[in-house]
Amino acid sequence: MTKTRAAITGIQGYVPDHILTNKELETMVDTNDEWIVSRTGIKERRILKGEGNGSSVLGAEAIKGLLAKTNISADQVDLIICATATPDMIFPSTACIIADKVGATNAFAYDLMAACSGFLYALATASKFIETGTYKKVIVVGADKMSSIVDYTDRATGIIFGDGAGAVMLEPSEDGLGIQDAILRSDGSGREFLHMKAGGSAKPASHETVNAREHFVFQDGQPVFKAAVKSMADVSEEIMKKNNLSADDVAWLVPHQANKRIIDATARRMGVGDDKVMLNIQKYGNTTNGTIPLCLWEWENQLNKGDNIILAAFGGGFTWGSIYLKWAYDSNK
Ligand code: UT7
Repeated sequence: MTKTRAAITGIQGYVPDHILTNKELETMVDTNDEWIVSRTGIKERRILKGEGNGSSVLGAEAIKGLLAKTNISADQVDLIICATATPDMIFPSTACIIADKVGATNAFAYDLMAACSGFLYALATASKFIETGTYKKVIVVGADKMSSIVDYTDRATGIIFGDGAGAVMLEPSEDGLGIQDAILRSDGSGREFLHMKAGGSAKPASHETVNAREHFVFQDGQPVFKAAVKSMADVSEEIMKKNNLSADDVAWLVPHQANKRIIDATARRMGVGDDKVMLNIQKYGNTTNGTIPLCLWEWENQLNKGDNIILAAFGGGFTWGSIYLKWAYDSNK
């Protein structure tokens, strides 16, 4: 019996127009373009402006484009999973807000939180609804307005993040294409190095938490960097071995865009050359759940049916993982 797999049948990204350059950051905090480029690879990032605009705006724009492109009407969608670390509100879920904005009236919708690995966690979760035959059209959207939780007076975090979103359509495939394997991991002891201190149930918002600037991302960069390099490289190597893939078999590595040095280390361990690594961190910075779908979107025209693609991510939690998929369509080149 042929196995039903979940295949990506469309991809669309969305980034807001406003560009925040390294030069502009130099006027906001004690940093410089040379340091940022050499330590991270980032040159600029996008920022979502406008009162009341949250991550749902980014996610909804990506999904509207995806529906138009795939010729699928919003009411045909069964499920929307939104991977986000910056929900519009703690509740209702951003996925519900997005479903309303795009008119997906027949879809159920929920958020999934795994920080920068959220898109991979969501993709793996969504694939099960397709593989079991439960649903036929599932959208996974990664959307983050990181500028809403970044302290632009903190040079250690202010330079890294940007806003953006990307969405994929998942549909059943009977011809061996689509998601082949996923390895997902977490280690909550890493939480001390990367978190937002206040605003949750352990430390609700108060005048004190606002004054102490505890509603922003806190990151102790070095331990996160070390864990990211090891974990992303380990898990990518593991998924290759598990699926008998050599470096030559891999058409593309699609890494989470947190730091170019982490990406280079992962590619080196896999034995994959730079020409096979999707890299757009210079334009967008770290968009958290947006990075991987934004890469796939920008490279879509270079992807061929049957291409072996490895997705890899690491993020707060700690969470990390890797997904191996076979690309399911030839784009209009
Ligand atoms: O996406 C999810 C997970 N997140 C990550 O994967 C991020 C992992 N971490 C990193 O990418 C890096 O640790 C950072 C980019 C955050 C920082 O780079 P680093 O090479 O680890 O720098 P550092 O924190 O060790 O700081 C080195 C020096 C320090 O100065 P001293 O003490 O050596 O004099 C910092 O104060 O660089 C200084 N520094 C800066 N200088 C100019 C830190 N930030 C800046 C800055 N501009 N923006």
